[in-house]
This record gives sequence, structure tokens and C-alpha cells, in this order.
Amino acid sequence: MTADELVTPPLLNQDPYSEANLINPYVWQEELRELAPVVRLEQYKAYAIGRYAEIKLVLRDPVTYDNAAGIGLADISKPGSWGRKASVFSEKVGEEHARNRRVLTRIMSPIVIRRWKSDFERQATETLDEIGDKQMVDGVQDIAEAFILKALPGAVGLTMTREQMNVAADLNFNQLGPNNDLLAAALRRAEPHMEWYNKQMTRDALVPGGVGAKIYDAVDQGLIPAEVAPEMIRAFLRAGMDSTISSISGALRYLALDREQWDALRVDPGKARAAFEEATRLESPVSISYRTTSRDADLSGYAVPAGSKVALWFGSANRDPRKWEKPDMFDLDRNTIGHLGFGDGPHVCIGQNIARMEGEVILATMAKRFRKIELNGEPTRKVVNALHALKSLPLRLVPA
Ligand code: HEM
Repeated sequence: MTADELVTPPLLNQDPYSEANLINPYVWQEELRELAPVVRLEQYKAYAIGRYAEIKLVLRDPVTYDNAAGIGLADISKPGSWGRKASVFSEKVGEEHARNRRVLTRIMSPIVIRRWKSDFERQATETLDEIGDKQMVDGVQDIAEAFILKALPGAVGLTMTREQMNVAADLNFNQLGPNNDLLAAALRRAEPHMEWYNKQMTRDALVPGGVGAKIYDAVDQGLIPAEVAPEMIRAFLRAGMDSTISSISGALRYLALDREQWDALRVDPGKARAAFEEATRLESPVSISYRTTSRDADLSGYAVPAGSKVALWFGSANRDPRKWEKPDMFDLDRNTIGHLGFGDGPHVCIGQNIARMEGEVILATMAKRFRKIELNGEPTRKVVNALHALKSLPLRLVPA
């Protein structure tokens, strides 16, 4: 197609960041998908994609759709954007990005991650022991958060409280959206914790033997510059906790709603991994990421000019009926290969195997311990610019 033949993307008259749309994204995302392969969001001077095929295409063309201007709405290459430090993974490109991934991948080798499995199993058992014989629990706070707070900081060598974990994740995921009230509130909540947050990333604050200490060893070996180390550790806090908590609590909600699938998991706890994966597709905790066009682009016959911010709604792609049969259904037997809950292409999630192992372990431990789980009230959702997650999940647990 010549440039003249390309179609201008239509306007979508929706605010994806309104409270109502963040809480329930399914209706406006259907509109997004059905309107065109790519649309314009006038209010944010950005483009947006909701279909599976086009999002995958963009993720696999990092030259046209670049990460260096930031994976949030703000263009971090320009002065005056609502400042935050660039991620040493998701906002680096080329050799620098490849080097950072290489170093962390080597540290978190499959052997190292397998060794964590026994820790995760112990921590999952402890989490459920702490519930004791309480029958009414909150699936987010008492199970998903309690477990991840034991598992991930320990593996990295960090120590933190639940409030610190929540504040850090809230700030990160709000910073990826517009400069709105949600971001202002997250910045206010984070203020008293900033000293702690920055100190956590230093060599002295880390527990020896964890991934964090090994990242500093990589500095000593000349593999990465010293200033990259704290930012690598920050990536765990930024990307690795609330996302996994969301997938786990999402899985618990779907399983509480569907007795047959809970029973199937009890008969075969080996299905725990499938449950986590299907929940990651349906929840898509990291709901959105941006790229910026480095040149004029032709996206399925639509024109996206150079220098445009392009929003990729992973949650929408993961429910695109062009790709998935009965997309809104939670199905333990679904072939979930290719879902975009962990992204795709060169920036695909580097922590996905840790997340899978955490999810698998806690869900299998639950299945062995409880004959039945059911909802004991209406779940509520967090309102965060770039995170889709439950805030509360009232559950009634019936012991095996
Ligand atoms: C269920 C849990 C998780 C979900 C849903 C998730 C989701 C994602 C997604 C969608 C991306 C791609 C973003 C993009 O392309 O712009 C990503 C990247 C990333 N994730 Fe995860 N993630 C999870 C767990 C973790 C964990 C446990 C870690 C800890 C190490 C982690 C670290 C990262 C990093 C560092 C990147 C950037 C990779 C790069 O740009 O090269 N994530 N994640």
C-alpha cells in the first residue's frame, strides 16, 4: 500500500483511564477491538490497539515500534514528562537491553529457579497454616499477597512490609498511565517510603545469596555498570509482585465460581499451572504497555505517523474472539499458548517462569488442603492506571 492509500485510524470516544473503565474494561475494549485495528485516543494524543494479531505484530517489530521513549503514556525521552527512572529492561533497546537481559537470565537460570521451588512450597504451606481453621478469608490479602510477600522478596534478598510492597507497585503501575489523580495519590502515598525504597536497592541492604547480591557480583565481574544494579533490582519490585498477586487471586476467583473446575484441580493438582496460565490470560494483570513509532507505519492498512505513542491493550488481545474461542470463559483445558499476558517479542516478561512457579505452587497447595472454595461476598477491584487486579476477594474455605 502506498502512503496515500492508508486509512486514518478512527477516533474512539472512550476514556480507558476513567474509574469505571479501569474497574470494568471489557465493554470499552470490545468497542476498541471492533472499531478498527488501530484507533485514535484524542484526549491522550495517542493511538490504541486492542486486537490480538496487531498487538503481536507490534511487539515483534521493535524497530518500528520502539521502547526507548517509555512503555507508559509519557514520552520519557522529552523533558517535562512526569519523571521516573527508565527501566533498564523495558525501556532500553538494542545491545544495552540485550546485555541486561543476558546478565539477569544467567543469574536466574532454570536451575536456580528450580531450587526456589522447595522454598516456595514451604512458604505456600506457611501461608495456609497462618490462616489456620479460619473459614472466611480474603483471597487477595490472606492468600495471594501473603504468599508473594514471603516468596519474591526472599528470593531477591529484599526485606519489606506489605504496605511498602503495595505502595511501590501502586506507584509503578500508576506512573505508566496519564498524569491523573491516581498518579498524584500514588505519589503522595509513596513519599514517606522513598528513602526506604531507594535504600533497598543498595548492596548493603541485600540479604547475601539472593538474586540481588548476584546482580552486584555481575558489577564486580565487569558485566554491567554499577548504576545498572539498583535499577535491575528495582525491576522485581516494579514488575514482579502485584502482577503475580493479580494472576493468583484471579485464578482463585474463577475457581471459586466454578465448582467443577475446582474439583478437577483437586483430582489433579498438576493442573495448577494451567489454572495460573488461564488466569493470566483472562486477568492480564499488566493491562497495557506503550510503544512509540520511530517512522511512519502501516498497521494493517492504517496510518500511524512517526513519533506516535501506541497503546497495546494486552487484556483486550487476550479476549479477542478472532483468536480465542469463548474468550471470556475460564477453561483449565484451554490451549493458552501464545497469550499475551506476559507480552511477546524481545521484551517478553523475563520473570514469567518465576511467576508460573509461584502460581503453580500456591494453587496446588490450596487444592490439596481445601475440598471447596466459594465466594463469600462481592470481590472488588483496584483502580490503577496500568494494572488489572482484584483488591478484595471474600472467600469461604471448606477443609478437605
Ligand atoms: C503474573 C505475573 C506477571 C505478569 C502478568 C507479567 C507481565 C509482563 C508483561 C506483559 C511484560 C511485557 C511488557 C512490555 O512488552 O512492554 C513484562 C515484562 C517484564 N517483566 Fe513481567 N510479569 C509478571 C511477573 C514478573 C516477575 C515475577 C518479574 C520479576 C523478575 C517480572 C519482570 C519483568 C521485567 C523485568 C520485564 C521487562 C522485560 C524487558 O523489557 O526485557 N515480571 N511482564
